[in-house]
Amino acid sequence: MSVERTNPLAERLFQSAMAALDLYALYVGDQIGLYRALHEAGPATSTELAERTGTVERYVREWLEQQTVSGILGVADPSADPLARRYHVPPDHAEVLVDEDSLNYQAHKGVDLVRAARPLPALVEAFRTGAGLPPLPWPPEGRAEFNRARFLNLLGRMWLPAIPPVHARLSSDPPARVADLGCGTGWSSIAIAQAYPKVLVDGFDLAEAPIERAGDHAAAAGVGDRVRFRSADAATLGGAGPYDLVTVFEALHDMSHPVDALRVARGMLSPGGSVVVADERVADRFTLPADEHERYAYGWSVVTCLPSAMGEPESAGTGAVMRPDTLRRYALEAGFGEVETLSVEDVEWRFYRLIP
Ligand SMILES: C[S@@+](CC[C@H](N)C(=O)[O-])C[C@H]1O[C@@H](n2cnc3c(N)ncnc32)[C@H](O)[C@@H]1O
Repeated sequence: MSVERTNPLAERLFQSAMAALDLYALYVGDQIGLYRALHEAGPATSTELAERTGTVERYVREWLEQQTVSGILGVADPSADPLARRYHVPPDHAEVLVDEDSLNYQAHKGVDLVRAARPLPALVEAFRTGAGLPPLPWPPEGRAEFNRARFLNLLGRMWLPAIPPVHARLSSDPPARVADLGCGTGWSSIAIAQAYPKVLVDGFDLAEAPIERAGDHAAAAGVGDRVRFRSADAATLGGAGPYDLVTVFEALHDMSHPVDALRVARGMLSPGGSVVVADERVADRFTLPADEHERYAYGWSVVTCLPSAMGEPESAGTGAVMRPDTLRRYALEAGFGEVETLSVEDVEWRFYRLIP
């Protein structure tokens, strides 16, 4: 094909469209289990992979060819007859495609992007009316476990140990109590309980479906006796605590009333307790050129984070690009006396400790 796009933006959007198509094909492979079947049972022809996965050979063949020209899968002999070609998961792609425990696992991005696209027609309407977008139902694909590996690998091993007063309290007696607000499917609560074998963790999330899964995850992880979950709005949560630590991981910017949530969190603290917030590592102010993480955060903000928070009356309308000054203002309005920006190293998030 001769490419005659002389405007760089036209070329860039062509590349973006190819990237989007990669993610849709990734979604198909992930949902059906094509990657796993190819990785676990070894190289296969399209007929063999279709048999392994109970799918139709013609569809699988097209997918395999697309995956191979896209550089995601490999093929032994591209010149072989289409039905004779044997495809494989390249060794260094396996952790990205099938190893959910790896920090490099990215197969969930298919689900992420497909879910983000589903309410786009309603989003167009919301731009006109100011309405919010209701939460998406869990089915058919569930929700992507985008932070699971990060919590299980980093939260208890690197992030919390890098906050000395918090680490000391979680490691000491009497056993500390932790509240995890906006805990989603519970992996942060589970990771805290795994890292600190005596602590008791209460996870709260506005949405009921993730909370149901969170309980199953905690039981399977062997911490079901110390981690409990409840569906609740962090902004109106009453009667819980006291807690030595309250955490809010990548959830404050999604809350319609973040100041109320922080005020509630402050009220839950026991003497000496503090709140740890982790949220997007965006720039201090709107600047150009922005780095990739800021661009990524703005993308999510436009399609998901901001519209999800806009549904409630008098929403703060924070969006995913919650800059350090915004967090500081929210914390001071909620009555905290001090906001520390922590030196926790992470490419995606910035960490803050809020002290009453
Ligand atoms: C981006 S997700 C992060 C979930 C989880 N902390 C993680 O990192 O996997 C944001 C979460 O905040 C929850 N949330 C939004 N508003 C909330 C509120 N007012 N109270 C409690 N949870 C809320 C959402 O339901 C969602 O699960």
